[in-house]
Amino acid sequence: MGHRVTLLPGDGIGPEVTEAARAVIDATGVAIEWEVREAGLPAIEREGEPLPASVLAAIRETGTALKGPVTTPIGGGFQSVNVRLRKALDLYASVRPVRTLPGVATRYEHVDLVIIRENTEGLYAGLEHEVVPGVIETLKIVTEAACLRIAEFAFALARRDGRRKVTAAHKASVMRMTDGLFLDCCRAVAARYPEVGYEEMAVDTLCMQLVLDPTRFDVVLLENLYGDIVSDLGAGLVGGLGVVPGANIGTAAAVFEAVHGSAPDIAGRNLANPLALILSGALMLEHLGEPAAAQRIVAATTAVLAEGRVRTRDLGGRAGTTDVRDAIVAALAGGRV
Ligand code: NAI
Repeated sequence: MGHRVTLLPGDGIGPEVTEAARAVIDATGVAIEWEVREAGLPAIEREGEPLPASVLAAIRETGTALKGPVTTPIGGGFQSVNVRLRKALDLYASVRPVRTLPGVATRYEHVDLVIIRENTEGLYAGLEHEVVPGVIETLKIVTEAACLRIAEFAFALARRDGRRKVTAAHKASVMRMTDGLFLDCCRAVAARYPEVGYEEMAVDTLCMQLVLDPTRFDVVLLENLYGDIVSDLGAGLVGGLGVVPGANIGTAAAVFEAVHGSAPDIAGRNLANPLALILSGALMLEHLGEPAAAQRIVAATTAVLAEGRVRTRDLGGRAGTTDVRDAIVAALAGGRV
């Protein structure tokens, strides 16, 4: 029997990159029943709401979604669809593999790390209020349960993938209680994984070390805000937003999406790089228990990049979104991978 997956094309470049990812995933031969649902601007136009309850229900039912980016309209009173999705589905772990790709010119070779970000609390709890005029307060919520859960996730991933070390990032010198609790939980979990190395690093030092030598890192574990920032830093190390995939994992559902946004400046012009979402599709296939198909997508993508003929503008080439799609589908179909 095939897998059921909710497909959210999103808006901006979302429909273009999701179409490419879907074509590539289908070309692996894995049977997927796609259930397409609207989110973002098209959903606002039709239902007055960027994340209709029916979309959440659809993802809860299939348990898996491949998602294109969605625009958060500024000043419209709408909360970010992504933040709401993560909260509503309790997608507590954000996973971002950061890997050097052949043929993509960057400052470093042999980068291969995974950024694990706690997705549900910290400063992104969104609890802000005005204390008195001119003074705003925001609350950083840190719970033992969420810290233990994300640490367990990171160490289990390290063990599963044969990774050697987890680096927990913090600012416990200033936020002694909140980041202190995060570190206490990381240490408690680390003690149960003696075969995986463990180190702690202030998040500012981590940023400097990542820029100096990213190859010294393996699994990097962070709370929500630090994880958001360091994830984009990681993308910059290996070629930018167009090439870094992502997954948001919960106990009952998982949503796979690129790191980048809806890129309104290039939307609808066949200029978007679909690689990030295609590689997110590979993460999704792995999650669905189809590791061979996932590996074939990574190999096809790598082969096309290494050949160097078909690249989008952000990677210094002149190819369109559909050219990249076609080249990867051809690599899969031609039995080259
Ligand atoms: P963005 O990631 O959409 O764009 C930043 C820059 O990177 C732009 O110059 C864009 O052209 C380029 N870019 C992004 N993805 C690309 C791709 N695949 N290929 C080639 N170039 C690419 O970030 P921005 O402009 O800050 O946000 C635009 C909208 O997207 C906002 O409404 C924001 O809220 C939303 N957003 C949505 C996300 C999601 O749905 N996961 C994530 C981040 C932002």
